[in-house]
Amino acid sequence: MALGTNAQTAVEVTRSGGFGFVGAALSTPEILKQDFAFIRTSFPNLEPNKPLPVGYGFVGWLLDKNEEAGKRMIDIVIENGVQAIWLAFGNDIGRWVDYVRSSPANARAHRDRRPLIFVQVTSVEEALVAANEWKVDVIVAQGTEAGGHGGSATPSTFVLLSEILAALPQDGTAPPVIAAGGMANGTQVAAYLTLGAAGAVLGTRFLLTPESPYTDAQKAALLAARTAGPCATVRTLALDYAGDTAYWPVHINGRGIRNKIVDDVEAGVDHATVQARCKVATEVGDQSYMIVWAGQGVALMNEIKPIKDVMAELHADLVKQLQKSQRLLKD
Ligand SMILES: Cc1cc2nc3c(=O)[nH]c(=O)nc-3n(C[C@H](O)[C@H](O)[C@H](O)COP(=O)(O)O)c2cc1C
Repeated sequence: MALGTNAQTAVEVTRSGGFGFVGAALSTPEILKQDFAFIRTSFPNLEPNKPLPVGYGFVGWLLDKNEEAGKRMIDIVIENGVQAIWLAFGNDIGRWVDYVRSSPANARAHRDRRPLIFVQVTSVEEALVAANEWKVDVIVAQGTEAGGHGGSATPSTFVLLSEILAALPQDGTAPPVIAAGGMANGTQVAAYLTLGAAGAVLGTRFLLTPESPYTDAQKAALLAARTAGPCATVRTLALDYAGDTAYWPVHINGRGIRNKIVDDVEAGVDHATVQARCKVATEVGDQSYMIVWAGQGVALMNEIKPIKDVMAELHADLVKQLQKSQRLLKD
């Protein structure tokens, strides 16, 4: 999650039994240098030639926009031995998959320190290309419930995952598919695992942690969303207009907290005015007019707690639910 994660959140997720990603779409070589110094010291007992147990995520259209800078960023994360690179939201993701594999940095890397490639998809068609043409290591099936950017015409995570699993061969040759979008607790994770997902991605849940770089005002807006009813979040380009970031590939928009920004854009207020109002609101911490990306699962989130506690709760809930589901067979 660009803007929602950093090296600390990724390290904490991994240390707590998950696998942490840093959203690096807006990062710089200087930030990466600090990140890797921190990450290396966070895993002091890592054996030589073992990858760093975190991943780095990049956004395709931003890589396209400044290709040389994009390649440099990818080279740096490969040189530092990350275990995974995540790619999403571009018109030519295949090119970046090729770059990760064919880059001189990858050729120089020890074979156990070459990153796995995760590609996030929002349709069955994209999943088939990712599996059959790009031969990615992991497919992330992101449904419409997801926070942040995603497909404007994408079905629910449940439907998308089911469709992708049905379309891929069942003979063990297809990459694992993991589910993303709308999850707040381990019971939901259990449901996706029993549906056939190889794993689950949670984004918004980690914004409600002390470690998250989201501001206090953004976290307060997330907590308030719980009582805002079913329309607490919305999939829209309005928030991108407010942030002057509406340059995404067609069929991509973003899910965030529905607030006065969305009202203004829907009422036809010009984008320059919306941007100016958003800038002021963000500076003064006015929640009613700031950009707060969030998934639909936010309605089930009611407290800020440390990542290790979120992970422990997710795990306990997941195990309990899987055990409970076994009883269905006996009844
Ligand atoms: C603040 C925020 C930033 C995000 N940034 C990215 C990103 O840079 N690249 C990406 O592929 N997905 C991004 N996502 C989507 C996540 O990868 C993931 O699919 C989503 O958070 C899962 O849904 P959930 O938020 O309902 O758990 C972002 C999501 C949020 C909430």
